[in-house]
Amino acid sequence: MTQPTKPHPGHPFVARIIDGAMWPLRRLRRKVVSQAEGAVLEVGVGTGLNFPCYGEIESLHGVEPDPYMLERANRRGQGLPYPVDLIAVGGESMPYDDQTFDTVVATWVLCTIPEPEKALAEMYRVLKPGGRLLYVEHTRSKNRLASAVQNGLNPLWKAVAGGCHLNRDSVSMIHQAGFSDVTVKPSGGESWTIFPMYRGIATK
Ligand SMILES: C[S@@+](CC[C@H](N)C(=O)[O-])C[C@H]1O[C@@H](n2cnc3c(N)ncnc32)[C@H](O)[C@@H]1O
Repeated sequence: MTQPTKPHPGHPFVARIIDGAMWPLRRLRRKVVSQAEGAVLEVGVGTGLNFPCYGEIESLHGVEPDPYMLERANRRGQGLPYPVDLIAVGGESMPYDDQTFDTVVATWVLCTIPEPEKALAEMYRVLKPGGRLLYVEHTRSKNRLASAVQNGLNPLWKAVAGGCHLNRDSVSMIHQAGFSDVTVKPSGGESWTIFPMYRGIATK
């Protein structure tokens, strides 16, 4: 495993909570992640909950700056039917050559990355031409009341949820990142909840 380039605070408790709280999303995960092909990069692997959802991929590279998440992900990455290489860096600056990957996977991560636009530029850079970003993200609500509640709760939420923002317009950021084609499918509660979720594919 490559050593960290920059220490990330993290907390074992947050890693445990994320692990448990995100378990019910496994069906949605499988829908998204099973579409990955070839050489795959996953950005912000967390505790590795996506790993069992990959099909017949060539290899999996993953970045995750939180040491406690990474420790769990490394355990989950053992014994898988494809080679796994996880490194302790953030998505904003990744040590991969241009046009390395067939697929980049980002699940519920643009909400948390401190500089999401920078990370999206990196995802675009490392994808081969025609390569695909598979994503599922929760975003800012289109409903005025729900979005006001998101704004109000955000500071507290960020503090307890490992830096996750409730009110980021992550899907618009994907549109703005230079991909030639972006599909967007509502994937739960989009009209009124404070966790509207969307999934889709963005093609380079
Ligand atoms: C809500 S969790 C989702 C984890 C995982 N993608 C999943 O689907 O279970 C958000 C993840 O983003 C990671 N993260 C935080 N800062 C990051 C950064 N700069 N680059 C990449 N990932 C980051 C967190 O450590 C955490 O693992």
